[in-house]
Amino acid sequence: MAEPASRPVALTGIKPSGSPTLGNYLGAIRPALALALARDYRPFYFIADYHALTTIHDGDELRELTYEIAATWLACGLDPQDGVLYRQSDVPEIFEIAWILSCFAPKGLLNRAHAYKAVVDANEQAGRAPDDGVSAGLFNYPVLMAADILSFEAAVVPVGLDQKQHVEIARDVADAVNAAYGPVLRPPQPLLEKAAETIPGTDGRKMSKSYDNTLPIFAEPEDLTRRVKRIVTDSRRPEDPKDPESDTLFRLYRLVAPPDATEALRARYESGGVGYGEVKEDLAVLLNDLLVEPRQRYAALMADRSEIDGVLESGAERARAVASGVLRRLRRAAGIGR
Ligand code: TRP
Repeated sequence: MAEPASRPVALTGIKPSGSPTLGNYLGAIRPALALALARDYRPFYFIADYHALTTIHDGDELRELTYEIAATWLACGLDPQDGVLYRQSDVPEIFEIAWILSCFAPKGLLNRAHAYKAVVDANEQAGRAPDDGVSAGLFNYPVLMAADILSFEAAVVPVGLDQKQHVEIARDVADAVNAAYGPVLRPPQPLLEKAAETIPGTDGRKMSKSYDNTLPIFAEPEDLTRRVKRIVTDSRRPEDPKDPESDTLFRLYRLVAPPDATEALRARYESGGVGYGEVKEDLAVLLNDLLVEPRQRYAALMADRSEIDGVLESGAERARAVASGVLRRLRRAAGIGR
């Protein structure tokens, strides 16, 4: 497809470390697809399978989860003609670039990266050695993520708040490389999805596979309804006035309901005119309606993987065309090769 040189790249990745959740959808996929639809950016959306290798050490499982995330992007509406959908591991240039970047990434900066720091803090709390269970891959996670971003000259990286620090690290590393060699890398901007910081799981904490509080996107409707009914609420009765902002049900509802329905429900919360049971019913219906088409598309894609394979093959080719140019420039600047 002819590509106007002026369209800057929007890039984001999803790590296939578990089946796709509504947190992925509302926090990452939906905003990224809205951005793609506006056509102001050239979308590079990918499956970060080598990032998932930091936690998934079962080959069959990782391969399956990678297909699930690819199918999710497509089922939720990514247009693979306009956007480039690829598997990170199909672009070897990223990994060569990652090594170069690692030689510019201050170790002290990586010590402060939140995913690593969270493990160290938990270890210290539990009286274990600080680096207990920490692989070098987990420690270097932000460097690989910087390579994901910088290999494609991404201008913006749509992410949730939890990934903002990683994008800032990518920026810092790009600045360090540019300070040495002149402007060879494009420093990216995080594009923060406001909703992404607040997508709550069934227990009210951030929806996360590690808290086991997720709502799956592609469960059967009855299963999703059952899980919605298990969302934790307080013990207020229907007639009690309630603060909508602190209720998990309301926070999910407003992510999927039209604005006028959201405002109507807000008023009923505040005046004490609605019970949680009713909100659960409505939320389950809204979610299941939203997912009718993606579910059908997803089932078809997963039943015959050849369409996914074809999309990923073409995506890898187009992605490599960009990354190989960046790698060539970097190697020349660094004095690698002739
Ligand atoms: N670290 C991101 C996450 O856990 C996934 C990811 C990998 C990513 N590489 C990326 C996101 C590059 C944006 C850009 O969700």
